[in-house]
Amino acid sequence: MENKEPATKEVIYSETINLDGSEDTKPELDTLKRLEEENHSLQIAMHKVEEETNVLREMFAKTNEELGNLRKPALLVAEVSLVLGKEAVIRLPNGNKFYCNVAKEIENLKVEDSVLVDQKSLNIVQKVNLGKDLEVEKFVIMDKPKETWAEIGGLKKEIMEMKEVIELPLKKPHLFEKVGISPPKGVLLYGPPGTGKTLLAKAAANSTDATFIEVVGSELVQKFIGEGAKLVKEIFNLARAKKPAIIFICLFCL
Ligand SMILES: Nc1ncnc2c1ncn2[C@@H]1O[C@H](COP(=O)(O)OP(=O)(O)OP(=O)(O)O)[C@@H](O)[C@H]1O
Ligand SMILES: [Mg+2]
Repeated sequence: MENKEPATKEVIYSETINLDGSEDTKPELDTLKRLEEENHSLQIAMHKVEEETNVLREMFAKTNEELGNLRKPALLVAEVSLVLGKEAVIRLPNGNKFYCNVAKEIENLKVEDSVLVDQKSLNIVQKVNLGKDLEVEKFVIMDKPKETWAEIGGLKKEIMEMKEVIELPLKKPHLFEKVGISPPKGVLLYGPPGTGKTLLAKAAANSTDATFIEVVGSELVQKFIGEGAKLVKEIFNLARAKKPAIIFICLFCL
């Protein structure tokens, strides 16, 4: 740096500056220091911007995915009525039936399975488990009643009839087999509110050690055709699983 040319100082590189701390290099040193500081803060700023870009990119990807999901047409929920290999007959909630294709990846499709179908083509896209086994339990009250015949005041004739029609076939089914008659499957109890209809049914369940399954009749009237019938079927399946059982359908309960 002895023979330096002072005339042209257009570009100054840090290597070309003699950093011996002498008086004439002081301005350059100051400039360098300032530039280095600037460089440092610019690097920090760039780092921050890069981080922000990443966050924004992630947000964009998420929003884009969400938007894609929102734009997808909704799928209909239907029930399989008949399986014919890679085709099937489905029943929509409004009761209409359609013959449609089944997506390749769906295996073990069975009658009564719930499936998702495309709105336009009505082809089966996916099998879904709507937890229908649990659904029936939402509509019934299951109980092991404690009420006894002895607690009932009066109603002698009704108690006797209940014993004959409900208790006897459950306790002594062989008597009916012997005579060759099939026992009655149910009774209709009617009368003003609070006169012991539910009480009689509960006492019958207790004396036969049966599961008491209480159903509110209006629950059986479902919004869609066929749903109520399905519910009745499921209630009887439940009763079969919990046998012996008494299904008590209350027609005018609140
Ligand atoms: N004959 C009776 N002996 C003893 N208790 C009774 C008798 N009748 C009704 N009760 C009592 O009255 C209350 C209502 O009876 P219960 O629920 O059996 O009436 P219900 O006929 O089923 O009425 P609803 O038509 O409103 O369903 C119960 O607490 C029950 O114990
Ligand atoms: Mg009642």
